[in-house]
Amino acid sequence: MDITACGVTLAALMLTVLLLLFSWKARLRHSRLPPGPPALPFLGNTLQIDKRAPDQSLIKMSKKYGSVFTVWLGPRPAVVLCGFETVKEALVTRADNFGARGTVPSISKITNGYGIASSNGRRSLQLRSFAITALRNFGKERPTLEDFIQQEAKCLVDVFRRTKELPFDPTFQLTCATANIMCAVVFGNRFEYTDSKLLTLLDMITENMRVISSPWGQLYDLLPSILDYFPGPHNRLFENAAKIKGFLREMIQSHKEARTAGGPQDFTASFLSKMEEEKGDPRSEFNDENLLLSTFNLFLAGTDTTSSTMRWGILLFLKFPEGMIVIPVLASVLYDSSCWESPETFSPDRFLDEKGRLKEIEAFMPFSAGNRMCIGEKVAQMQLFLFLTALLQSFTLRSPMDPHAIDISPLSSGFSTLHRPYQLYCVPRKSA
Ligand code: HEM
Repeated sequence: MDITACGVTLAALMLTVLLLLFSWKARLRHSRLPPGPPALPFLGNTLQIDKRAPDQSLIKMSKKYGSVFTVWLGPRPAVVLCGFETVKEALVTRADNFGARGTVPSISKITNGYGIASSNGRRSLQLRSFAITALRNFGKERPTLEDFIQQEAKCLVDVFRRTKELPFDPTFQLTCATANIMCAVVFGNRFEYTDSKLLTLLDMITENMRVISSPWGQLYDLLPSILDYFPGPHNRLFENAAKIKGFLREMIQSHKEARTAGGPQDFTASFLSKMEEEKGDPRSEFNDENLLLSTFNLFLAGTDTTSSTMRWGILLFLKFPEGMIVIPVLASVLYDSSCWESPETFSPDRFLDEKGRLKEIEAFMPFSAGNRMCIGEKVAQMQLFLFLTALLQSFTLRSPMDPHAIDISPLSSGFSTLHRPYQLYCVPRKSA
């Protein structure tokens, strides 16, 4: 062996020893964590987790290791809680211990700890309680939230009608509608579906949801300090986030300039009033950075979630027989077989009592539970109900392919569960 080869072998050996030492020390530091699947040094359990369906991999592991176990996400350990009882115990019964937001490297890099969804402690308490009140108040005055959604539902029916019974993918139209509702909530206005500002914003939100839910997004969150130095689709997340922030900054600035006393109290207007009220208080969290990142959180948390739930809903309408009872509950359900009979089966009846009324089911928590549960639940439910009923009253939705052949297994899941691309065509109802 020549001297260069010797050097390389020695360096590789030293690096391996260092990595082993590093991960052994990390394991020792966390030796009181619950047991879990055996993990490789440095890579942890990364290779055992299916990047396209991480939730399914964790559910599978829980069958062997119980409802509480540890997985190593690269060099970081995480305790996994599975099943309704365990999740409820943590998020609801012990809400104070489990209310903090864990660090997601990609999100931290974008938000730097500012904004409703990405902050913790005093900041999160102030912003969250402010946002809940602002959303509630926005819904009360004229034009109410319901007025905005009804108006948007008419536009949605119009664009669906213009497809003239030809097959199309509804993603774009549904995302325009939900983004417009977020615009109404945050800025008090809407955009035409052809407006270039709206189109650019949607492109960026949609791409970011796709990247963050993709194997690349997950890999970034496992090994951020390494991937920061590599090119790849994960970098699009940060480029897009910078552009979304630019758009929001512009919107906030024009809001500041156009604001009048007694004007509409959308989220931004309420936040600006609060900033003025608390001007001079050094402990106040009502500042420009928290306003920017909170509007960012609302757009990201409220647009694709609601649009994607409606797309899943429509896909199920296409696949299953007509005459099915339409209920506004279309979001994902937990798959806990001790709470649900045949959790994998599509069965909307499970949500109804013997008189056909909607049942309260504790285990149905698509908006999560506890201290960090979704603050947009009512906004989302109103949209799901009004948008979907407006479409179903106006059209019979049909699939260009045989409903039996429609594949409703997810394309991938991560931050969001993505459906496979599909098309539908809309046959106008006689009375519409
Ligand atoms: C069907 C639609 C929606 C679903 C399924 C959904 C689901 C969720 C879930 C599960 C969480 C908790 C995440 C966690 O525990 O980390 C959450 C948080 C959040 N959601 Fe929603 N959401 C929806 C629509 C909305 C809408 C329309 C808005 C805005 C009006 C919104 C704003 C937020 C915010 C700001 C948070 C973060 C709360 C915090 O960190 O304290 N969501 N959402």
